[in-house]
Amino acid sequence: MDAKQIAGEKAAEYVKDEMVVGLGTGSTVYWTIVKLGQLVKNGLKMKGVPTSTKTEELARSLGIPLIDINNAKKIDLAIDGADEVDAEFNLIKGGGGALLREKMIASLAERFLVVVDETKCVKTLGSFPLPVEIVPFGWQMTRNRIDGLGCESKLRTAGRAPYITDNGNFILDCGFDEIHDANGLNLELNRIPGVVENGLFVNMTDAIVIGRNRGKVEEC
Ligand code: A5P
Repeated sequence: MDAKQIAGEKAAEYVKDEMVVGLGTGSTVYWTIVKLGQLVKNGLKMKGVPTSTKTEELARSLGIPLIDINNAKKIDLAIDGADEVDAEFNLIKGGGGALLREKMIASLAERFLVVVDETKCVKTLGSFPLPVEIVPFGWQMTRNRIDGLGCESKLRTAGRAPYITDNGNFILDCGFDEIHDANGLNLELNRIPGVVENGLFVNMTDAIVIGRNRGKVEEC
């Protein structure tokens, strides 16, 4: 079994009856959602809060009951993938473009569980270009200000057009190489008018499930 699948399926074991669960986006948490679909068919009583339209469609197709974020009195647990995880469990997320809703839901959840394969574990964040969601208005001005923080950014595209997020915004993928002060950069980016949110998840992760080769899984 592939490392993403092992980690993803293991994470489904954290979901218990009556929980409201934030459902992440991406190819690792995909396996969690598929497993939850099976568990729901077998009687698990849970409700999901999806982090993207893609995840919403997947969960619906599997018969997982969903609840609008505005009607969820609380989110017990959010489960999501990551593009990079450092030793302090800080993350880069947003490779799939869903970082804003992912961050909102993770921050509302009582517990945030991250599921990754071992290739995502790094010493220092930053090899993976940091996704930053920005409003389309004046986007080149916003990009100049972001680049002024020491990166080279690229507008994410879908074919020839800019990639558009579920919230109608653009994404800049920002090459910082090495991010030594994730907390500081997170704050600086979000202080720039035009920036909606960035993919640094600092001090948010409560637990990690890591899928390793040859069927091994580690829970930290
Ligand atoms: C989605 O926007 C991302 O934050 C994903 O959670 C992240 O890119 C991990 O995706 P994979 O599990 O597909 O690698």
